[in-house]
Amino acid sequence: MTNPLLLDGKWLASRYHRYIHKQVQAVKDAAGRAPGLGVILVGDNPASKAYVGMKERVAKKHCGFETFDTVLPEDCTQDMVEEAVQAYNEHAGIDGILVQLPLPDHLDELRVIDTILASKDADGLHPYNQGRLSRGDALVKPCTPLGCMKLIDFALSGTTTEDSASLEEFAEADLSGMHAVVVGRSILVGKPVAQLLLARNATVTQVHSRTANPEALCAEADIVVVAAGREHMVDASWIKEGSIVIDVGINRTEAGTLTGDVAFDEVAPRCRAITPVPRGVGPMTVAMLMLNTLRAYQRRFTETI
Ligand code: GUN
Repeated sequence: MTNPLLLDGKWLASRYHRYIHKQVQAVKDAAGRAPGLGVILVGDNPASKAYVGMKERVAKKHCGFETFDTVLPEDCTQDMVEEAVQAYNEHAGIDGILVQLPLPDHLDELRVIDTILASKDADGLHPYNQGRLSRGDALVKPCTPLGCMKLIDFALSGTTTEDSASLEEFAEADLSGMHAVVVGRSILVGKPVAQLLLARNATVTQVHSRTANPEALCAEADIVVVAAGREHMVDASWIKEGSIVIDVGINRTEAGTLTGDVAFDEVAPRCRAITPVPRGVGPMTVAMLMLNTLRAYQRRFTETI
């Protein structure tokens, strides 16, 4: 096997930021304002704080958005979170709403998501948007799954980060005849990424913690998307020679560094293409949040511009 194509999510994300920034410049004056992203963070989870900080920084600095943030204490009530969502629903300058997950255990996450206006749901997690996604006519696609699809398109495009390819060259790949295995079944990643793969004509198998022999199913896959949340769970024995491997996991090692759900060093030599961690799916999740917010903003102004 030749060297695998390293799917550099940071590189691809920066192309999306540039594209989004240009779109904002083109519409902002006529619209009278930039796109607005409203972020709600509950509690003191250090990873969530870091992710929210990164999302707000990218929104303002790279995409030219305005950001709004609400930080609620760890012991806040369900009503307080829902009221914060409602305030953003009614805010004329906010196009996209993000409630950073997970929420503290005493809060009902699904009920909070249900409160977000479907048209402002930048994460694509509202039941209306999940329903449209499973029907095959999605309005908003969840950020991490959409980022995974863009990375698969990159893998199959024949382009490398050395080429000065524009985003238009990454056509949506037709996955007819390909077998994709998704490891995980969360509403944030596993379930929606399976829907997106299916919509591209892949044959999809979903494995999870109660699956017998997940490694044997993975070893038959042409595309493997791993969102298990377990450090280095997928080793070389799970992966067929020549497959595309997308690693959604972000785990903190004892040494304090970040690593994925895939044992990269032993898996990479078997792959056609693979995402690193960090610099793989993570930056694409952020870029797709920006894309979803831009689209929500454009939808609000298409009638008036
Ligand atoms: N926590 C981890 N990833 C995500 C995400 O994509 N969206 C939200 N809202 N919370 C997350």
